[in-house]
Amino acid sequence: VRLAVFASGTGTNFKALQAAIASRRFNAKIVRLIVDKENTGASHLAEQFGIPITVIRYADFANKVDAEIHIIQQLQADQVDGILLAGYMRILTTTLLDAFPQKIINIHPAWLPHFPGRHGIQDAFDAHVQETGVTIHYVDSGVDTGTIVAQQKVPRYSTDTLETLEQRIHQVEHTLYPDTLEKLLDEGVFLK
Ligand code: GRF
Repeated sequence: VRLAVFASGTGTNFKALQAAIASRRFNAKIVRLIVDKENTGASHLAEQFGIPITVIRYADFANKVDAEIHIIQQLQADQVDGILLAGYMRILTTTLLDAFPQKIINIHPAWLPHFPGRHGIQDAFDAHVQETGVTIHYVDSGVDTGTIVAQQKVPRYSTDTLETLEQRIHQVEHTLYPDTLEKLLDEGVFLK
């Protein structure tokens, strides 16, 4: 199974996925990293792993659909079967979604449907919930609205700062995403 990872940030989830694929011998390979800006942590990791990188500068395209057509051409050339979003801070349009129907997965750092959007950790922290979580879901054209694949609860302690809560959530992400990928591969979801 040939996978692409999309990331905009530090890339710790990308790193956890790649580490699991390598050490646990999943029947999968990350063949392309897509980033939407230069010099991300994720791109530096891809260089270390020897994974080809494509930088999509959305501002260079007339619109988002044109940018996505460019992405689709690259992924088709790479013969990609599935896409894992790992901190990709953009909403996909139906152009990309329809090119990979039910083959695009995202991780969100909250217990969806609670706290969707960019600030899922902060919003849960500010709401003083006793529990938040991590969610893995299929991607649709909404903001963190696709069908849920896996979830894990994360406690929020009264002594937490935003930073300690963030750390606890990220730790859970780094096991839940690889474990869920393994399950999806076992179920054959990326096969045609
Ligand atoms: C993660 O918290 C992920 O859930 C969210 O963006 C963050 C990306 O972190 N969608 P990293 O780049 O994988 O370190």
